[in-house]
Formats: sequence, structure tokens, C-alpha cells
Amino acid sequence: MNITKAVFPSAGLGTRFLPATKAVPKEMLPLVDKPIIQYCVEEARASGIDEMIFVTSRCKRAIEDHFDTSVELESLLEEKGKRETLKMLHTISEGIQVVYTRQKKALGLGHAVLCAKRLVAGEPFAVLLPDDIMDAEVPVTEQMMRVFRRHSASVIAVQRVPRSQTHMYGIIKGRKIGPGLYKVDDLVEKPRENPPSNLAIIGRYILVPEIFDALERTRHGSGGEIQLTDGIRRLLETQDVLAFEFEGERFDAGDRLGFLKANIHMGLKRPETKKELKKFIKSIV
Ligand code: UTP
Repeated sequence: MNITKAVFPSAGLGTRFLPATKAVPKEMLPLVDKPIIQYCVEEARASGIDEMIFVTSRCKRAIEDHFDTSVELESLLEEKGKRETLKMLHTISEGIQVVYTRQKKALGLGHAVLCAKRLVAGEPFAVLLPDDIMDAEVPVTEQMMRVFRRHSASVIAVQRVPRSQTHMYGIIKGRKIGPGLYKVDDLVEKPRENPPSNLAIIGRYILVPEIFDALERTRHGSGGEIQLTDGIRRLLETQDVLAFEFEGERFDAGDRLGFLKANIHMGLKRPETKKELKKFIKSIV
């Protein structure tokens, strides 16, 4: 079955990145010169997805404006003959349809995904967490869609992390069924001790529409939040769920250090900044 829709939960408060995120959405912080959410939209588009569903909240208008047309800016660039810049602006939302829905209160990632239920309309879909930035030869979402097409089951992206960091992630307990592929038996959110593995859940998912029923039946945890991992645990009661160790590098751009690393990584990849940035880094270390 083909996947044509991607959900981008973008309604979180970004408290790890205050004060930068007090008035600017975390999703709009730039890596070199593109907001982090644009990298994720480009990943989804490169994977063949054309309908982007953003779950936003108050103070996130900048995301909507970014994927919209700026008439004033475009006519100014036209007047000044800046055709290349104009072309670049057009590529931001080229070939995609963008829709928005609101999460009125930050009630957790599971709740944010649930807010997209009507827009997803009963199809399997991808979820991309905008603060997880991926650099991969084959887009990570595309890698996961291939697994989904072969096995017709929900797929969670996982990555091995040092044992000392398992308490920071959702961790899966699973059985290996192929290269980098696991059948999930259970998921534990941020285990304090005895993690069942060091396979950490990363912000990419392919989910079947039954996840919405599972989320609706998931009890609100502390602070009234609904966690996506709890919804997936419910889904496991009736369906197989797979975990996939994707190929590529991942940066947690929602965290200060991860954001800095992502910026340096992307800066070193861009032809226009690469040489001078390398020289600068060498000069300061
Ligand atoms: P995070 O926990 O990384 O984002 O959630 P956050 O809550 O914005 O950040 P901190 O922890 O306070 O710094 C992962 C993704 O889920 C979205 C966030 O916007 C982020 O993209 N999210 C989280 C929602 O859309 N709604 C929520 O209620 C919670």
C-alpha cells in the first residue's frame, strides 16, 4: 500500500531550548539557512510523500508562513531581478500539499498524532518528529516505507545508543527477524534500570490507521499526557509492530548540543560554507 501522507507533530513547547523558543517555534530554528522543519519536509517529499500534515499550536504561525507564499517578498525579488533566490523560495513548497491542524494543549506526542486522525482518513501514514534531523543516502522515511511495503506492519525507527543513555529514550524489546529488522515484543519509555536492549526509538514512524483507536484507548499519564509509545504498546495487543535500524546519521536538533552538532555537520556538507568552516574549526581546536 502506498503512503502519501506525513504527520509532523509541531505543537510542543520546546522547553529544552529556552529562551530561544519563547517566541520562535523550535521547528523554525535554522540549520545553516533552512529551518529544521524544512529538512524533514524535504525528507518526506524525497520519499514520495506529497501531503504534509502539521500539528501546530499557538505561537507556531511562523511554520504556516514559511510554507506559504510571501507576495511582498516575491515581488521585491522580481523587481530586483533576483531570479535564483525566487526559484529557491518556490522550491520550499513545490509539489506538496500542506494542511494544518491544531493541538490546543500540549498533551503529549500521542495526543498530537491523534489530532491528525481526521486528516489521515484511515490510511497508513508516516510520522516525522521535526527535531530529529537525518542525513542518509536513502531518506530514512523511504527506507521505512520499503519495510512497510514488504511486511504490511507499523515500523518504528530505532538506533543503538550507549547503555548509559537508554534512560533518555523509549527502548524496544524485540527479536531479530532480518538485517536491522526486529519484531517488537514490548516498548519501555525511558527505563531507569534494566533496559531490555539498547535500541532506542527515534523520531520516524510508519503507522497503520488502527493506531488512532489504540491512542484513544490509551490512558492519560502524568500531566494528562498521552504518549505515542503507550499507544504503540496497545497496538501490539492486536498487531505486529516492527523496529528498523535505519542507515544514516541522526541529530537531536531539539537539544542544544545536538543542534550545534547538526549545524556544523550541515555546514560542512554545503559547498558554499564547507571550506571556510573547516578552516575555522581547525583554527580553534
Ligand atoms: P519533544 O518532547 O522533543 O518536544 O517532542 P517538546 O515538548 O517541544 O520539547 P521539550 O522537551 O519541551 O524541549 C517531540 C515532538 O513532538 C511534538 C514536539 O513539537 C516535537 O516536535 N509534540 C510534543 C507535540 O506536537 N505535542 C506535544 O504535546 C508534545
